[in-house]
Formats: sequence, C-alpha cells, structure tokens
Amino acid sequence: MKLVGGSASVALASTIADELSVDRVDVAFERHPRGFPDGERYVRLMGPVADDHVVLVQTTHPDSMIVELLLLADAIRDAGARHLTAVVPYYGYGRQDKRFLDGEAVSAKTIAKHIAVDADELLTATIHNPDSLATFPLPSGEVSGIPALARHLKGIGVDMLLAPDDNAVRFVKEASTITGLPFDSLSKERIDSYTVRIEPKTLKVKGKSVAIVDDVISTGGTIATAAKELRKQGARHVVAACVHGLFVGQAEANLKACDDVIATDTVESKHTKVSVAPEFAAAIRALR
Ligand code: R5P
Repeated sequence: MKLVGGSASVALASTIADELSVDRVDVAFERHPRGFPDGERYVRLMGPVADDHVVLVQTTHPDSMIVELLLLADAIRDAGARHLTAVVPYYGYGRQDKRFLDGEAVSAKTIAKHIAVDADELLTATIHNPDSLATFPLPSGEVSGIPALARHLKGIGVDMLLAPDDNAVRFVKEASTITGLPFDSLSKERIDSYTVRIEPKTLKVKGKSVAIVDDVISTGGTIATAAKELRKQGARHVVAACVHGLFVGQAEANLKACDDVIATDTVESKHTKVSVAPEFAAAIRALR
C-alpha cells in the first residue's frame, strides 16, 4: 500500500501513512520551469505506484482541490495502480444531497460520480448527511471526526458541551459519550447565508466553560450567535469546536466571540489542533 496526498491534505496523508507504517509517494504541484499563468492545477507523481493499492488523500475545499483530486486519481490509474481508495476528509458539495427544486444538480452525488471514474471506494469524515453515501455509485463509508475533538476537549477542562442547532445534537451526544461531559442544545433558524437566529432558552452555564460542537464552521455565524447567548447567560469560557473548519467570509471576526477555536485536519487552517488520522488509519486497515 502507498499513500498519496493532494496539496490540500499533504500533512494528513503523511500522518495516516505513519499510522499505517506505509510509504508516501511525493507529488509535484508545480510545472517546471514555468507554470501556466491561469491558476489551473498541475500534478505529477514523483514515484511508482504500478500494482500498488494506493490511498489518495485530498480534501475538497476550496473547489480547485476537487480538480486536483480528479487529476491525481487519473494519474494514479494511468501509472498502473491495482486498487485506489479515495480518502476525502471534507466532502464538499455534500450539503445538496437532494433535489429541492426541479432542474437542480444533486451535487453530493455529482462529485461522487466523478470520483468513481477512477476510485474503487471512497472514505470521508463526518459528511453532512450520512444517508447520501448510499446514493453514491461506489462503495462509500464515513469515519467520525468527533472522537478527535473529544480527545482534545477532555484535556482542556471543559465543563459542558452545547449543540448550536438541532443538526448538531448527534455530534454533542457522541462527544458526550466519549468525554463523559453533560450537554445541552439550542434551536436555530437560518435567515440567510450569513444570518441565523436562535430560539430563546435558559441554559445552566453560569460560571462554566462550555464547548460548542458542530460539524462545520463556515462563516462562523452559527457559532458566534450561540457564543453570544452563552456569554449573555453567564458562561465563563467559550470554546468553538468543529470537525471541518472552512472559515469563509467574516469567520475570523465572528469567532472573536469565542475564547478558543478547535478544528481537525480535514481542512488545514491555523485552528487545526487535532487529527482524524487515527480514525482514517483504522478504516483503511479494515479494507485490507
Ligand atoms: C449546518 O447544518 C451545519 O451543521 C453548520 O451549523 C453550518 O454549516 C455552519 O455554518 P456557518 O458557520 O456559516 O454558520
């Protein structure tokens, strides 16, 4: 088995390779001596993969990383790999998992169809709707990014966990089982892409250190609204914890409402503090 990391996931691919004690094949992402000036991606495998089971790790954020994933998968196949496992730590376009209006693309499935051209199976972490995996045209599975967050939260003295909306309840329940910490939840109404409103609710958070746990932080609007509510009700310390830290738009300004921000390495950022490598390594071992 050999590991290949796309440019969005070089560090994670390397950590998974170490966990599995397998070699990593380097990739050149720059055309030498001169690149094309239009920002198109370029990949070149710098080692052989003929007859190997290759695990390709590449997250799909931002969009250009999807193109790179497809280029790498094709290059790996053309180089004669025997078997290709695509590990997509953050599965972009996963939120459009059904056709809400006539004529829409079901983007979660669209991306999977293209991955299936070269990959034999797909592994991802904490996808928006796990049921959508059953609609993908290749065997697809999910690992959870919550244990990585829970391991960290256990060590930093948090008193309780909070789900910022109904969708996040399953994540805090899982984190609560691992950490033994109590949890509560809020209900959220999304007004538009940048604005959310939460329903009034009394929380027992006075003087407590609270971690808000969610799958994704995008604009940070959800977390900031929940953090302000926690402060209003007397929380002493507020931590934002997410599996996938996209941090788009005004996210950094919004996150000033929190004392600390923790994200996993499904998307690399300055807030990446924990790794999902152990979970992916275990899932890859189970494929062998
Ligand atoms: C929604 O269902 C997700 O779980 C997140 O709460 C949402 O994507 C966060 O977005 P934002 O950071 O833009 O509020």
